[in-house]
Amino acid sequence: MKNYKKNRQVVSNLLIEDFASEGKCIGKLEGAVVFVEGNVAPGDVVDVEILSFKKKKFYEARVIKTHSLSDKRTEPFCEYFGTCGGCKWQHIGYKEQLQFKWQQVSDHLHRIAKVPLPEIEPIFPSEKTTFYRNKLEYTFSNLRWFTNEEIAKGVELERNALGFHIPKRFDRILDIEKCFLQPDPSNDIRNQLRTFALSKGFRFYDQKHNVGFVRNVIIRTANTGDVMVIVQFAEPNQEDIDVTMAFVAETFPQITSLQYIINTKGNDSYYDQTAILYAGKPYIEEQMEGLTFRVGPKSFYQTNSDQAYELYKIARDFAQLTGNEHVYDLYTGTGTIANFVARQAKAVIGVEYVPEAIEDAKINSAINGIENTRFYAGDMKNVLNEEFVAQNGHPDVVITDPPRAGMDEPVVRTLLNMEPTKIVYVSCNSATQARDLAWLDEKYTVQRVRPVDMFPHTHHVENVVVLERK
Ligand SMILES: C[S@@+](CC[C@H](N)C(=O)[O-])C[C@H]1O[C@@H](n2cnc3c(N)ncnc32)[C@H](O)[C@@H]1O
Repeated sequence: MKNYKKNRQVVSNLLIEDFASEGKCIGKLEGAVVFVEGNVAPGDVVDVEILSFKKKKFYEARVIKTHSLSDKRTEPFCEYFGTCGGCKWQHIGYKEQLQFKWQQVSDHLHRIAKVPLPEIEPIFPSEKTTFYRNKLEYTFSNLRWFTNEEIAKGVELERNALGFHIPKRFDRILDIEKCFLQPDPSNDIRNQLRTFALSKGFRFYDQKHNVGFVRNVIIRTANTGDVMVIVQFAEPNQEDIDVTMAFVAETFPQITSLQYIINTKGNDSYYDQTAILYAGKPYIEEQMEGLTFRVGPKSFYQTNSDQAYELYKIARDFAQLTGNEHVYDLYTGTGTIANFVARQAKAVIGVEYVPEAIEDAKINSAINGIENTRFYAGDMKNVLNEEFVAQNGHPDVVITDPPRAGMDEPVVRTLLNMEPTKIVYVSCNSATQARDLAWLDEKYTVQRVRPVDMFPHTHHVENVVVLERK
């Protein structure tokens, strides 16, 4: 029998049997699992190159040749599919994507949580499967990624790019002409800005040496029609900054909040940088069920606004609030869920560790005339304790929406000690949610489970669970 345990060996005619987590697929080789990345779908027969063999008896591989295609496939609609890291599931029909996401949630809850479960309800699909994002970030770079077809043409190509990072090649940028993720004027702003920067001879950012002038652009669109654009520069060259910002302002009068950041650091993160308002308001506004949410340059807002509304409605429905409940909204971000449920609750207490988000949450209550919310900034495992409960009142219902890592164990312990009647658990990672459900099983039973698709053409899925005290 051939030994495939070395890297770069080729396995021929591997049948792809199923999807795996993190957007990969799996096949079987001599009883071991092969995780395959790249343009594959269950039902394909492919040749793969082994990238690594792990002691737990699985291989990692990438597809190098496709012999026959699965009937789960569909034609990708974007020319960058296969190169861009954005929508890796465009080659799989939306119905099949939904089925897999549902299956993934079900597998995680059954295999990891191992707690009694109700029937998992159908996944809530996204009505929009393109142009559903309200925020994108494009990066300027002097190291453009060239595709094999471009290299084959053998002509001199522009080396500067404005677009997305290549997966696993963070120094390389894929130049984008049309992206299907964000509605207009996102594509136009990016393209005009690139043409302008090239015409002026501005230096595109060089990540390796941390030099260059134009660095990146963040575009946020809102369901009110508001548009926010934040241009990041890597050098404090005020004259060229003013020329660039004037160009953007004149070309796109529909921008309601135009800002810039001078970021000379070695990384693109702008959360510790000052956003300078060039024109318009310092924020944009989203609307949901008659509520207005203010979104500042650094504020978190769910990136698919329409589906965020559906997600919150499911969470509120699971909570079954009557108006008398004391509610805690843990990991509240800018207080969106807290404010969304406040009219159906007696009081809502939100906790979140980003202080600016808490300031936004308070503003969002104030501009909507909501007076029964209170917000606190701090790390959940330090803030949520007996003293906090004594000060803020015992919660009848806890809504929790932690990051991908799930809740810290001390937070789960505190929840078990607090014994709210209901816990509504919104999660963007059903594997860590399943782990937390196993901990909560000591005192809680899972009553309802409903996955929600927020990100078509990606493997990501949200899941809402409601637990009741035993
Ligand atoms: C998935 S987001 C939820 C946001 C919010 N519920 C919403 O729908 O807009 C998770 C939030 O948890 C916050 N967070 C992460 N770790 C935290 C911690 N240890 N303590 C408090 N907040 C935390 C993040 O800053 C983020 O705002």
